[in-house]
Order: sequence, then C-alpha cells, then structure tokens
Amino acid sequence: MTPEAATRSAESESPSKRGARWDVYAIALEDDPHPRWHDIRESSPVLDTGGGVFFVTRWELVDACLRDSRHGAGVGVAASFGAESGLVADVMGAWLMSLDGPPQQRARDLVRREFTPRKIERLRPLVEEITDGLVAPLEARGASGAAEAIDVVPSLAFALPSEVIRRMFGIPFDEWRSGIESIVVAAGAGAIDGIAMIEGLAREFDARLRAGRVPEGLLRQLCEPDPALGALSTLEVVANAVLLVTAAIDTTAGLVGNAIACLLERPELLARVRRDPTLVPAVVEETQRFEPPALSCSRTAGVDFELAGVSIPAGSQLLLGLGAANRDPRRHPDPDRFDIDRDGAGLVSFGGGRHFCLGAALARMEAQIAIERLLVRSPSEWRLAGTPRWQKRNPTIRAHESLPLARAGSR
Ligand code: HEM
Repeated sequence: MTPEAATRSAESESPSKRGARWDVYAIALEDDPHPRWHDIRESSPVLDTGGGVFFVTRWELVDACLRDSRHGAGVGVAASFGAESGLVADVMGAWLMSLDGPPQQRARDLVRREFTPRKIERLRPLVEEITDGLVAPLEARGASGAAEAIDVVPSLAFALPSEVIRRMFGIPFDEWRSGIESIVVAAGAGAIDGIAMIEGLAREFDARLRAGRVPEGLLRQLCEPDPALGALSTLEVVANAVLLVTAAIDTTAGLVGNAIACLLERPELLARVRRDPTLVPAVVEETQRFEPPALSCSRTAGVDFELAGVSIPAGSQLLLGLGAANRDPRRHPDPDRFDIDRDGAGLVSFGGGRHFCLGAALARMEAQIAIERLLVRSPSEWRLAGTPRWQKRNPTIRAHESLPLARAGSR
C-alpha cells in the first residue's frame, strides 16, 4: 500500500487507533495547515498513521531521521504515485532519491558535478538576465496603469525556474515549451496525473538521447563519463534528468511565490528591506522556515527502533514533516512570527544527510534575485490585489496557484 493510501485509509479504521483522527496529506492542502501540525507535533510527534507510515513532526526527531545512516531512501514519492512496474517505476527506482549506499554515492557524485558551488555561482548573470526579462513586462504593465491584476505565479515564480533549468539543459525554447514545460504545466493544472508526468518527461529525454538531440548542457553532462566513477547508464541519465526537472520547478516556484507573499503581507518589513537590500537573503531563509515549499520527504526505517517512545519496525516509512518541524518552538522560538532577524540555522527545508537537496544553492539564488528585482530594487511598489490562492493538488508542495499583484506606487 502506498504511504498516501495508507494515510488515507487510517481515517476509515477504528477511531481508537492512534492517528486515525488525522489525514496528514489532507492537512497539508489546507489554506493554513500550521495549527493542525502544531496539535499533532504536541500530542503525537511520531504519529502512526497506519499502513506502516509514521509522520514525524518535531524538529529534533525530523533532523535525527534525516541524518541517521541506518535508514534508507524513502519510497514516498514512487509509491504514492502508485507505480509498481513499467517505465515510471524503472525511472523512479533509478533516480538519486531512491538509491542507498555506494550506488547512491556514485550516482550523486556524477550528477553533482554540475551543482558545485562554483558552477552555481557562475549561473548568477544568467539568472539575473532571465529575471530582468520576466520582471520588465510586469513593470511595463504596472506602469501603463492597466486595471487588471498581474498574477506573478505564471509570469515570474514558475517562469523563472522553468527558464533557468531549460537554459541549463540547453534545450531550444520552442521545444521546451511544447515538450517538457507543457507536461509540467499539465500536471500542475491536474490535467494529467503524476505517473503521466514522469512518463511523459522520461519519453522526452529518452527520445532525445536516441535521436542524438543532446545539446550542450545538463543532459550531455549527465552522459559524460568520469575517469574514476564511470558513466551513468541510459536509464540513469533519463531518470536523473526527469528528477532535475521535477525537483527544480514547482519547489522553486513555491519559494519565490511564498517569499513575495510573505513580504507583501508585511508592508513595514518590505519598506525596511527596500531601504536595506542586503536583507534579501534573510527574507528568503525566513520564508523557507515559515512557509517551506517542500512540506515533507521520507526515509525507510533500516532497523527496528524507537522514536519518542513509539516502536517503529524496520521497513516502515518515515514521513518527515519539514513544514511542521520548521515551526517547532523548541528549535525556533515564537515560530508563528515571520522574523528575518532570527537565527536561521537548522532549517530542514532542503532535507538533510546523504540526500540533501542538490539544488539548494540554485533555488536560493533564484529566489533572492526574484525578490530583489521585483520588490526591492524596483522603481514600482506592489501590493497584493486580492487573496492569494494556494495550490490544492500536491500535498508535498506548499505553493501558490495564483498570486495577484497590482501597483501600489513608484519612486
Ligand atoms: C526551493 C526549492 C527547493 C526545495 C524546497 C527543495 C527541496 C528538496 C528536498 C526536501 C529534497 C529531499 C532531501 C532529502 O530527502 O533529504 C530534495 C532533493 C533533491 N533536490 Fe531539491 N529542492 C528545491 C530545489 C531544487 C532544485 C532547483 C534542484 C535542481 C535543479 C533540486 C534538485 C534536487 C535533487 C537532485 C534531489 C535529490 C537528492 C538526492 O536524493 O541525493 N532541488 N530537494
């Protein structure tokens, strides 16, 4: 049974069963999941949701599970997509997130070559150029006095990471737009499910490899052998290309949108950051704590063990509540206050241990530049025009579906 199915079935089991009151994925899709996560964290920090899935919400427990080398990769994503065999199962079984031990280390070292701090820093001018290209039409529309609000989700929050990863892959714009991007957009809109998305992306990359349409960029670099590590197999290249696309876009779009909303909901803070743009990185870090775009990740318990008094059998899924842990007052005092002056250390927003997000530095850079160019160093001032709408499809992502802005003034 998949973790998601298991969690949902807990609802229909005996009400006396521990965890039966909570549907942790449904909570993640609420407009404000934080009060209910607070209740779970305080009453059952290791919640047995049934079906061998344990939802962990206290910071120190989440952090410990992430770093505990006895535990293996989680089956969370693959299993919750319901893929048991076929191309999608093969792809999800071969990508970095599903591997353990030496195979994971080898594949990670091969994929990581393009994500070293120096290589990411070299992308800065490109990210700035792309951001400027996206913000300029928004400024122009705002300046023209157009009455209708501008939705910054499609026009900036989503468009920026999609364009950055496209340029990293070197795939021509039209081919990206009609191929990879259209599949991601269709999944985001609920027009296709997760399995169809992974399958569609895998077929796109596989067809490119077979036809030799491999432009200079990430895909070609994934194919490049390393003298010490050897080469990724064709399946591994396809799987990790799919992973990079799916890991990069919706999450970063969530971070950009969440940071914009957090600032616009606090005009005094925004005014302070406009006076002192060096505060932008602190805004992005606090957004990652306060409204992290990735709400959970998972591990498979490698041994029978006890966590906060709960016995967990080997093979159980540890569903690690990143969003809940980031608001644990034991680690982050006064957690429901957005405070860019707090000590931002100890965030679990990018996971941790051997599977720590490979794109963390890139995502941070994109969000910082987007905030800086749209809200901080911009001639225009923006305000929220209406209530932002959260996406309601993917319970592992906290991101806006729509974030309407209007011009508040200019300087
Ligand atoms: C704000 C944006 C992002 C967030 C919140 C995020 C979050 C995460 C999380 C929580 C994990 C699981 C870590 C774990 O299990 O310990 C992960 C893994 C991963 N992320 Fe990200 N991510 C973001 C952006 C990106 C970007 C831009 C890329 C690449 C272009 C990327 C590539 C990856 C990869 C390859 C993994 C798998 C690493 C492994 O299993 O070894 N992510 N990310």
